[in-house]
Amino acid sequence: MHKIQNENISVDLVRDPSHPGVVQVRLYNRGITVDVINIGCAITGIYTSDRYGNYKNIVAAFGDISFYRVNDVYLGAVVGRYANRIQGGCFLLDGREVRLSINNGHNHLHGGVEGFSHKLWSLVSLQHNGTECRAKFSYTSPDGEEGYPGELIASVEYILDGRGRLHLLYEAVSSQSTPVNLTNHTYFNLTGFEDPTVLGHLLTINAASYTEKNAGNTSTGIILPVAETPLDFRTPRLLADGIGCFGADMGYDHNFVLQQNPENTLIRAAVLQEPATGRSLTVYTSKPGLQVYTANYWDGSITGIQGKPYIRHGAVALETQAFPGSVRHRHFPDTILRPGEIYRATTIFAFSLGDEIQGQHNEAISHN
Ligand code: BGC
Repeated sequence: MHKIQNENISVDLVRDPSHPGVVQVRLYNRGITVDVINIGCAITGIYTSDRYGNYKNIVAAFGDISFYRVNDVYLGAVVGRYANRIQGGCFLLDGREVRLSINNGHNHLHGGVEGFSHKLWSLVSLQHNGTECRAKFSYTSPDGEEGYPGELIASVEYILDGRGRLHLLYEAVSSQSTPVNLTNHTYFNLTGFEDPTVLGHLLTINAASYTEKNAGNTSTGIILPVAETPLDFRTPRLLADGIGCFGADMGYDHNFVLQQNPENTLIRAAVLQEPATGRSLTVYTSKPGLQVYTANYWDGSITGIQGKPYIRHGAVALETQAFPGSVRHRHFPDTILRPGEIYRATTIFAFSLGDEIQGQHNEAISHN
């Protein structure tokens, strides 16, 4: 079992000879450990203490790393080139039809058959300066991969800042105009899977509306109010409350329209709290949307890194993103990256114990 270390800050690199090319990094900073593997740039561990000092991994991860190359659950992974579903896998870009690979019913999901989540990323740098730990990874996606135009060079930097915050900094440049929507697909269970479901977690989301979807789970382009629906998380709400209201979805799988912020500020998008352990996660982001997905298709067939089976509603993913299918809905915020431009996005996962949560729900913070 992983233990809190004696020194305040460290970075480590682990190579496993039985998996050539695979590297795992461990960032440790003042009581929090973050593990990342270069397959899908996936977060495989976030260890924090609860109010009794129990140190647990509070994210879902595969016990066997070979699953990271082939899976449809995206545990902890960076998802791209374009997260969420694009109906029919096609859209118009500057008057030309783009056809993407189809990997989810009739639709394109999470970057296609082998999206960024399943690729081997390169470790660019790993360091700490006594205050914060940093690990940066990059992936070059060839022109035409999964049908996307242009060679896209993407990078993700993880920064563990010593104040309980994990920063995810995304950047990308492209040789041709192409859609980009990068997210991270970490699933949280703030009990460290001691409780096999997140039904007892409280969630608050800074959103008064959500994007409607059709039966195929793709966006209709219509924005609807959350008021008087099970999607109203403007004040803390138990996940158990509304999780049974969505028929075939079997739980939450919705994109929330986050309150807008002035440029260069991050919105406090959501707060996830677990009353028994006192653990709390606050998500800040520069992105306009948040997909909340409560692991509705987990069926116990995966035994996670905690040695426990992952069952339905075992965890919740809080995926900061562009609105689903934005490429097909021109009134949604634009997601096309042009040559010469730099795609930049930031998300912060901030960990604390319940009583430490400060500030107002609509607090905005700067990030430079
Ligand atoms: C999507 C779900 C999908 C899941 C796959 C989520 O981001 O919203 O619809 O089933 O990813 O693990």
